[in-house]
Amino acid sequence: MSKKPVVLVTRKLPAAVETRLRQNYEPRLNQHDEVYTSDQLVEYAAGAEAIIPCHTEKLTAPVIARLPDTIRAITSFSVGFDHIDLTAAKSRGIIVTNTPDVLSDATAEVAMLLLLGAARRAHEGEAEIRTNSWRDWSATYQLGLQVTGKRLGIIGMGRVGQIMARRARGFDMQIHYYNRNKLPTELECGAVYHASVESLLPHSEFLSIHCPATPDTYHLLDAERIALLPDNAVVVNTARGSVVDDEALIAALQSGRLFAAGLDVFNNEPAIHPTYRKLKNTFLLPHIGSATRETRDAMGFRALDNLDAIMAGREPRDRLV
Ligand code: DGY
Repeated sequence: MSKKPVVLVTRKLPAAVETRLRQNYEPRLNQHDEVYTSDQLVEYAAGAEAIIPCHTEKLTAPVIARLPDTIRAITSFSVGFDHIDLTAAKSRGIIVTNTPDVLSDATAEVAMLLLLGAARRAHEGEAEIRTNSWRDWSATYQLGLQVTGKRLGIIGMGRVGQIMARRARGFDMQIHYYNRNKLPTELECGAVYHASVESLLPHSEFLSIHCPATPDTYHLLDAERIALLPDNAVVVNTARGSVVDDEALIAALQSGRLFAAGLDVFNNEPAIHPTYRKLKNTFLLPHIGSATRETRDAMGFRALDNLDAIMAGREPRDRLV
C-alpha cells in the first residue's frame, strides 16, 4: 500500500473536515490550536507535501523560501490570501488555492449584523440589560439611526458585496458601489456604479467594505476619504483591517463626525487598537464573518477539493498561482 501524503494543517479544523482529511492523507494536526510561529511552520512542514493554513499563518516570502522542497501546495482555509506571498510561492513552483464562494452568505450576514448593531447601538443596550443598569423606557433613550431606505455604499462588489446588496435591499436601502469594474447591468439590480471611491463616499450614509487586502487597498479608508462621507455615516468592515486607517477612523468616531462603526476585522488581530474598545459608538466582533457550522465545513471541504485535485495532477478549482 502506498503511503498517504503528509499534510500540515496549521489550525484545528471542523471535525468533519479532519475526518475527510484522514481518509486520503496523513494529516499533521494542531491539537492545541495555537498559532504557529514562522519557525514552527517551517519545522512542522518537514516531509509534508502540502500545507492547509488559515489567515492566521503568515506565509511571507522568507517563510516560503525556508519551506522544504517536498511542499507542492498551499491550499488555504480562507477566501483572503493576503497572508500568503503569491509571488514567492509561484517562484518555488508551489500551487496556492483559496476557498471563495462558500463563505459569502455568512460574511454578508455578519456585515448586516454589524450595520444594524452599529446603527441601533445594540451593544450599549445589551450591556445595560446584562449589567442590570436599564432603569426605564424613555422617548429619548438610546436613539440610533434608522437603516430602512438609507443609502448603502459598497466598496468591492464581488461575491460578498453582491450578497450584502441583496440583503440590504430587504431594508429598502439604495445601493451605490465602487468596484474596479462595473458589473453587468443584470447583476447590478439597480445599484449605482461609481468609478472611484471618492465618488462613492459622499453617497454612503452607510459604508460596507468588501474588497480584498492588497497593497492597493492598504489604508484605503483614510482621513481624507472619511472626510468625504456624509455626517453621521456608519462604517462597516468585514474584509480586512488593513483596508482601514485606525487612527483616522477613531478620530472621526471620537469627534462625532461618524455616527458609529461596526467592525469584524482589525489591524494586528487580536491585539486591536485599544481605543476601539473604549468607544461607545463601535460595535465589535472577533473576526467571525465566516464562523457558521455550515460555512466552516464548506470551507474545509473546498480546501480539500483543491488539495485532492492538485495531488491527482488535476487543475484545482480555486488556483491563485
Ligand atoms: C477568510 O476566509 O478570509 C476569512 O477572513 C477567515 O479567514
